[in-house]
Amino acid sequence: MRARVEADLAAAETVAAVDSIAADALGPSSPVAEARRGLRDVDEADRAALGKAIAEIAAAVEAAVDARRDVLAASERADRLSADRVDVTLPGRRPPRGAAHLVMQVWDEIVDIFTSIGYTVASGPEVETAYYNFDALNTPPAHPARLESDTLYVDYGDDPEGVLLRTQTSPVQARWMESHDPPVYIVVPGRVYRRDAMDATHTPVFHQMEGLAVDDNLTFADLKGTLRYFTDQFFGVGARRRFLPSFFPFTEPSAEMSMSCHVCDGSGCRTCGGTGWIELLGCGVVDPNVLATAGYDPDAVSGFAFGVGIDRLAMIRYDIPELRYLFDADLRVLEQYR
Ligand code: DAH
Repeated sequence: MRARVEADLAAAETVAAVDSIAADALGPSSPVAEARRGLRDVDEADRAALGKAIAEIAAAVEAAVDARRDVLAASERADRLSADRVDVTLPGRRPPRGAAHLVMQVWDEIVDIFTSIGYTVASGPEVETAYYNFDALNTPPAHPARLESDTLYVDYGDDPEGVLLRTQTSPVQARWMESHDPPVYIVVPGRVYRRDAMDATHTPVFHQMEGLAVDDNLTFADLKGTLRYFTDQFFGVGARRRFLPSFFPFTEPSAEMSMSCHVCDGSGCRTCGGTGWIELLGCGVVDPNVLATAGYDPDAVSGFAFGVGIDRLAMIRYDIPELRYLFDADLRVLEQYR
């Protein structure tokens, strides 16, 4: 039995197998236990010698079992450790982190510039009535901006041109003045819609920020000072500003403000199309009709307004060649502006 057990142990490959060999060899129904039980039937003279022999065999088997178990337990443990191995020197894996889209970063930044000088953020609906988008802003019924080729109309109600996707953030001027007394200092960032085909500088949806100030005795000089402060904050101090006469139905006089090109400092380059100037925004002194329509007394208060493209500001500052990059979900582009 001892020889057989030793051979079995040598062949055993797991601690569990060793345990079962040990149970067979030394357990209650093993030959060893049986031999011990048989001792009482043996002649007294032989009993001690036989008992000693059994004990020796049992001890030898037990020692062989223990030795084999130690070897196998050690190798099983080594296997487990190498399977579980963690290389603590590997760099960690960072969970990917999101970031605000570039348009939203610029949106937040320009809103901050104005709220830090006392402006309040206002908002209005993107599905708007023709009244607020046009009429309340002194836009005559035949104005070309109303054409279906420029404006996306919403099929709602009786008037086919009564409800639309707002083409500008300007309607919030009228909405705010109807429900607030002067003084007014608001900015209105938001999405606007136009029936434009996609090209390098047009998308059917884009972002604007409207500004409106109405108070005692505000003049064009206040407008210039405010926009100078804004562009100094956003683009850095040093650029020259230019106001050219323009036309908007809701301002009189109206102007287009340009800034000397931040890339070439006005000498002419690819960014400014060789002119040295970059057109930034439309602005003007609020037309008295707009004030009166909203219920203000144009003889008592005056104001200025401006509208700036948020996407456009982002494109200018970061020299982004195509507006549509801001609307594609292309991470290769977006991740550059985290
Ligand atoms: N709403 C004009 C546009 O979308 C931009 C604009 C121009 C807004 C002059 C104004 C302004 O408030 O005074 O083109």
